[in-house]
Amino acid sequence: MLLVLGAAPHTVYGDGTGCATAHTERPNTPAEMGCPVEATQCGSVIGSIDSTRQATSEEGYGQYLSRNPAELDDVVARVRLDGPDALVSAARQARRAQREWAKVPAPVRGRVVSGFGRLVESNKEALASLVTREIGKPYTEALGEVQEIIDTCDYFVGEGRRLYGQTVPSEMPDKQLFTFRAPVGVAAVVTAGNFPVAVPSWYLAPALVCGNAVVWKPAEYAAATARALAELAWRAGVPEGVLNLVYAEGEATFEGLSTALREGVVDKVGFTGSSRVGREIGELCGRHLQTPCLELGGKNPMVVAADADLDLAVEGALFSGWGTAGQRCTSLGNLIVHRDVHDEFVRRLDHALREATIGNPTQDVLYGPMLDRKFADRFEQALAETAPHHRVLGSESTGQITDSNPRKGFRGDHSTGLYYHPMLVDGVRADDFLFGNEVFGPIVGVTTFETLDEAVELGNLPGYGLSAAVYTTDPGTAFRFREGINAGMVSANNSTSGAEAHLPFGGNGESGNGSRLSGMWVIDQFTRWQSLNWDFSGRLQKAQMDVGAVEPELDYRLPTELRGHR
Ligand code: UN1
Repeated sequence: MLLVLGAAPHTVYGDGTGCATAHTERPNTPAEMGCPVEATQCGSVIGSIDSTRQATSEEGYGQYLSRNPAELDDVVARVRLDGPDALVSAARQARRAQREWAKVPAPVRGRVVSGFGRLVESNKEALASLVTREIGKPYTEALGEVQEIIDTCDYFVGEGRRLYGQTVPSEMPDKQLFTFRAPVGVAAVVTAGNFPVAVPSWYLAPALVCGNAVVWKPAEYAAATARALAELAWRAGVPEGVLNLVYAEGEATFEGLSTALREGVVDKVGFTGSSRVGREIGELCGRHLQTPCLELGGKNPMVVAADADLDLAVEGALFSGWGTAGQRCTSLGNLIVHRDVHDEFVRRLDHALREATIGNPTQDVLYGPMLDRKFADRFEQALAETAPHHRVLGSESTGQITDSNPRKGFRGDHSTGLYYHPMLVDGVRADDFLFGNEVFGPIVGVTTFETLDEAVELGNLPGYGLSAAVYTTDPGTAFRFREGINAGMVSANNSTSGAEAHLPFGGNGESGNGSRLSGMWVIDQFTRWQSLNWDFSGRLQKAQMDVGAVEPELDYRLPTELRGHR
C-alpha cells in the first residue's frame, strides 16, 4: 500500500487510517489530563492541524518517493516536502500548545508516554516490518530497534514521577532554597533514517515527559516509518500541536530553523546526522545562545589485543562492521589489531565474512541493502579510496552485487535492490582516507599496533569519539583503554554497537558537542534548572552580607598532651 505524506499528519491520503475520525473519537485536552487551567485549545490525537495546513499549501519544494531499497519498484510513500515556512509554522503552533502541555502534571505526561510505549509494543511487528520495508534493515534488527522505543518509554514513564528538584539549605535563617526542573519549551528535532524510530524516541519520550512540545523533521527516506511512529504517539494521547511532524529537505529545514530561532519559537535543537551538518547547526544555535543536542558520526575503533578471544572478536567485528550494512553511527570503522594476532584474526574474519549471508532483509541475513540511493552513491565514491597498498578481503568482488558481479550465497533477488559486497580492507595506514573518515557502508579497515598506548592513539586519531571497543582477557587492558579512548561509549568484549536505552549516548570531538541522550542524562537536555529563594523572615536578608559569622581560632595549636610525638 502506498502512503501519500505531506507535512501534516492529518494530510495523509490513500492509507485509510481515518485521521478525521480519530480527531473526534478521542479528544485529549490538557484540562482532561488534570491541568488546573482551563484549556483553550481542543486537542486531538492528530497534531498540528491548522499550521500544517498552511504549511502544506506552500508550493515548489517538490516531492520525494520513499522506496524500498530492497525492491526499488516498491514505492513505500510519496512524500510532499515542504519549505522553510512549514517548520516555522509548526514551531509557532508548538509554542502555543507547549504552554498548556507544561501545565499537565508530569506523572500524567508520563502516562501518555506509557501509552505510547504500549501502543508501540502492540504494533511491534507492524512497525518493524515497515522499518524493514522502507530502509532495508533486517527484520530481527528492526524488531530490536522497535524494542528500544519500548525500553525508552518504560524508562521515561518513571521520570514523570521523578523529575526531582532539591530542597537546599539557605545561608540565612527563615529562608528556604529549592531547585526545579523547568521544560525548555519547543524542541526542533531532526533525525536520520538509519534508526528511523529508536533514535527519534530518544528525543520524543524525554522531551514530552519533561513538558516540551516537539517539531520533528525525520529523514525523507524514512518518511512512512516516521509517520507511523508519530501516529502511535498521537493515539497515545499527545495533544494537538505538542508533536508536529514536518517533511522537508535539509536546506529548507536549516532555513526554517534559522527563522524559528530568530523568531524565538524554538528553544532547543536536537540533531542526529553527519558531523558536517552538526557543525553548521552548532554554529547556528550558538548565534542564538543555544546549545543543541548533537549526535553525529563516528569512526569507531575496535582494538583486538594479543590476549583476546579471537572467535569472540571476529563475531563482534562482523556484527559491528557489517550489520545494518555498516550504516549505524556506532558501526565499526577501524580494526586495530595486535601485530601478533593480526594474520590469524584477519584470516578468521575474512572467512566469516565470506560465509555470511547477505540479501533480502525480510530473511535471516547479516545485512540487506543500503538505506537509500544516496547512501549507495556515497558508498561508491568511498570505494574509490582503496589504494594499491591495501589488500581487499571479505568477498569475491567489490561494489554493487549484480548479475555480472555476484555474491556467493546471496539470499533473494539482488537485481531488485541496492546490495553491496562486504569489504575488509587490510593494510590501512593512519593517513589513508579510509582510516580517518566515516564511511557509511559495509567496509572496515584493518591496521596493527604493538603497545596499548599506540592502539589508543590510533583509536583517537580520526578525531571522532562516539563508540569504541576492546577485545582482551586482561581487565587492566580494558580499563586502561577506557581511560585513554575519547569515546562516549566503550565496550569491552562486545561490539561497538548496542547502546542500551538507559545509558548515556553521545559523542565527543567530531561525534558531538558532549550532549548525551538517554537515561537520566538526557533530562538535562530537555529541562533547565530554576532555583527559588523563599524568604519567610519578613525582612530583607542580603545574601553574603547578612550571614552569621564564625571566627575560627586559626592560631590554635594542639597542646603537648594531645600531640602524638613524645
Ligand atoms: C545510531 O546509529 O545513530 O547502539 C544509533 C546502537 C543503537 C543505536 C545507534 N542502539 O548501535
